[in-house]
Amino acid sequence: MTSDKSKTGSLLIKGGNLIDPAAKIDAVMDLLLRDGHVAEVALPNKIRGGVDANFDARGLVVAPGFIDLHVHLREPGQSYKETIATGTAAAAAGGFTSVCCMPNTSPVVDSQEWVAWIQQPQRGAVVNVFPVAAATQASKGAVLTDFRGLQRAGAVAVSDDGKPILNETIMRETLRLAAEINLPVIQHAEDTRLTENCSMNESTTSFRLGLRGMTTAAEATVVDRDVQLAQQFTGARLHVAHLSTADALKAVRRGKRGKARVTCEITPHHFTLTDADIGEYNTYCKMNPPLRSAGDREALLVALADGTVDAIATDHAPHATHEKIIEFEKALFGIIGLETALGLAITRLHREHKIPLARIVELLTAGPARVVDLRGRGTLARGSYADVTIFDPKRRWTYEAAKSRSKSRNTPFDGWQLTGKVVATIVGGKIAHRAG
Ligand code: DOR
Ligand code: ZN
Repeated sequence: MTSDKSKTGSLLIKGGNLIDPAAKIDAVMDLLLRDGHVAEVALPNKIRGGVDANFDARGLVVAPGFIDLHVHLREPGQSYKETIATGTAAAAAGGFTSVCCMPNTSPVVDSQEWVAWIQQPQRGAVVNVFPVAAATQASKGAVLTDFRGLQRAGAVAVSDDGKPILNETIMRETLRLAAEINLPVIQHAEDTRLTENCSMNESTTSFRLGLRGMTTAAEATVVDRDVQLAQQFTGARLHVAHLSTADALKAVRRGKRGKARVTCEITPHHFTLTDADIGEYNTYCKMNPPLRSAGDREALLVALADGTVDAIATDHAPHATHEKIIEFEKALFGIIGLETALGLAITRLHREHKIPLARIVELLTAGPARVVDLRGRGTLARGSYADVTIFDPKRRWTYEAAKSRSKSRNTPFDGWQLTGKVVATIVGGKIAHRAG
């Protein structure tokens, strides 16, 4: 489901604090949705005429529907971990009305056929799904895919996520050809020649646990190189996935000052945890990029606040129990994240680090919409899609992984008390999730 042109009737959302950073609105407003689009945004009690339904949003924030640039929905091929139906149900529960799904499935999404397959109604998506297609065939990093064809089929970006595009000539060609059709290139920045057999960040914790550690340079040198490559082509668009280090941020800042379009995303786990949280080999803290030092996390918090970062993205990476509850070095990388993103953002970024709510909403809406050009989304301006997230920024709740809508349970946040809860998620004017 990528758009909804059907008649969905009308819904008047009344009295909420409407935060729409793209339209520079942060005020109590009423919002009228009609037939899948925003029909009106107005001061309280000014909207006249009959409506099919009302939603009392007093005391709640009404925001554009959240957009997650980085999720793994695991179809085709790994439906024992997640399906498009279960992954998007988790997205809706987390307030996300649109998700971009990564192509590291089985097989890899490197053809128009698979891009189209993901978007078929039979998949049972309950939020909008925008496929990211592989940049190289089978993500092997050697032969480029057909960018034009993939874009025509609905891909919003290309990426070999899970792996980097390491070869410089291939990355240069990827950026050059994608620039011709204004397609973003999403890079998982990791010099895998430096990270072989590594399962965490290189630190005193890796030393204590006797685990091989990834250096921050393995990320930063790739980001630095890519920024330089992107600057060689007018119109090139480089998006750095799940950025995790202070040094990579320096390269992104350099790129943003230059003429290339460089953007980046940060995950909730990287702004919340550090490698010390691995404790005694907690595999729910094993992800790639790995949790980093307190200093890196501090740099991420600064960049989230100061505008360097474009989006919060979850890197929702479901895995089955037998793939996680095993020896640390054998466990797969990744954690689920769709249902905890807002709570972690409000708890850590807003309450502890005083980042304004409007900035957090921007990182979940207008920011990601710009990165992959989701026109008519990421804002509640009149005429946009009726994708809306309604949340209570003050509500305290406890995350229970056992109740997740995801098929998988691999999260370090089970039992965490969070502040900030999704109350309703509206996709194309229809309620896709409502808190009980
Ligand atoms: O933690 C991760 N999980 N990092 C990746 O790059 C891939 C992802 C996955 O697909 O499980
Ligand atoms: Zn990745």
